[in-house]
Amino acid sequence: MSKSGHEHGHQPESPSRGELSSRLPGFYKLSVYERRATLSERAGLGPEAGKLLGEGCLSVEQANHMVENVVGTYALPLGLGLNFQINGRDYLVPMCVEEPSVIAAASNAARMVREGGGFVAEADPPLMIAQVQLYDVPDTERGTAAILADKAALLAACNDAQPNLRRRGGGTRDIEVRTLEASTAERPGMLVVHLIVDCCDAMGANLVNTVAEAVAARLAELAEGCYGLRILSNLADRRCVRVRCRVPLAILRSERFDGVAVRDGIVLASRFAELDPYRAATHNKGIMNGIDPVVLATGNDWRGVEAGAHAFAARSGVYRPLATWRAAADGYLEGQIELPMAVGIVGGTLRVHPGARLALQILNVKTAMELGMVMAAVGLASNLAALRALAAEGIQQGHMSLHARSVAVAAGASGPLVDIVAAELAKLGDVRKERAEQILSQLRDSVSS
Ligand code: MEV
Repeated sequence: MSKSGHEHGHQPESPSRGELSSRLPGFYKLSVYERRATLSERAGLGPEAGKLLGEGCLSVEQANHMVENVVGTYALPLGLGLNFQINGRDYLVPMCVEEPSVIAAASNAARMVREGGGFVAEADPPLMIAQVQLYDVPDTERGTAAILADKAALLAACNDAQPNLRRRGGGTRDIEVRTLEASTAERPGMLVVHLIVDCCDAMGANLVNTVAEAVAARLAELAEGCYGLRILSNLADRRCVRVRCRVPLAILRSERFDGVAVRDGIVLASRFAELDPYRAATHNKGIMNGIDPVVLATGNDWRGVEAGAHAFAARSGVYRPLATWRAAADGYLEGQIELPMAVGIVGGTLRVHPGARLALQILNVKTAMELGMVMAAVGLASNLAALRALAAEGIQQGHMSLHARSVAVAAGASGPLVDIVAAELAKLGDVRKERAEQILSQLRDSVSS
């Protein structure tokens, strides 16, 4: 596997990052304030970061510059995915999500993968596709040949449209023509031209749309037809990320199942998703449970990433799982994921959203490719966590114990009492607030007597 080496973009280095470990045992037991202090210290964040975490990451004033008809802002929890080691480097992963157990599950799976040597990732260069639709083309073969014969001049025109991108080392790299409907003696045909643009560290939607608009008229002229849409494709399959991992059997073991049984259950679950689109959709949803929160936290376009992921999953004509799992010859569980990752670390939302900039500072990624690799690794971890739970005790047990903690808090428990009350609720199989209040008052009575 090649290592990523795209040198575009810039993230400020913080002095204390050299020793960063993403292993923070007991982090979940700390108060929010203690967690912030630990994060600030580990990630070398300044006082501004503490203020953002404390007072909110986006003011109404800032929101008003982002979208239309603003009446307020809307908050979601921001948590830290722990234990991630990717290509030998540790990452603290900011995750913005409303669903309980997603962050804990990904962190837990990342700890298992760590035992097997961590995630190994690679990314394609940041190539986006801009599409120019050409219709009423009288001879699609002649039109295609004319466009390809003019490729050098067309590439120059594309690059003239984005001089700043050229200066940053990016630009339009190639032009491809696809026939969507061949012309016949009776009716003209339809072509689509793909402009392949290296967007460096930007997601690139605006960049490539500008390029497409700049050359559409010339393309139509060459094809002797008309131009229609000029817009990026969210099926960013020239910008894929691949991540793999290995998990030792011993760590896969659950309360009631040994490592071999859990591994084989995960492999069977993978096979199920490979054979059935109904299951593949849920399997991939579990992957996006990990990816979307990082996309959201870093100010990226999660609708774009979702559209790309599902279109890629269906590229063979059958909807398939984005990640698969196998038993290796040495007994380890091995997993791999591949999907397009059109994300950026400059421009767009990052210009206006301080929370997104903070998330990137916590992650400390140097390139958009590196960010994509982290996101795909979190997706693979989320998938592993879900399949492990499903293949062993079932998903509800883990959900229940997390739910029990929030019920304990709602009943008034704090500090160490949260876990004691939650454990009792789970043991009783009765996770109601009234029951939690009862347990809490019994505990308080026994302490005071
Ligand atoms: C729930 O948010 C995600 C799962 O349904 C994923 C899966 O079934 O693999 C648990």
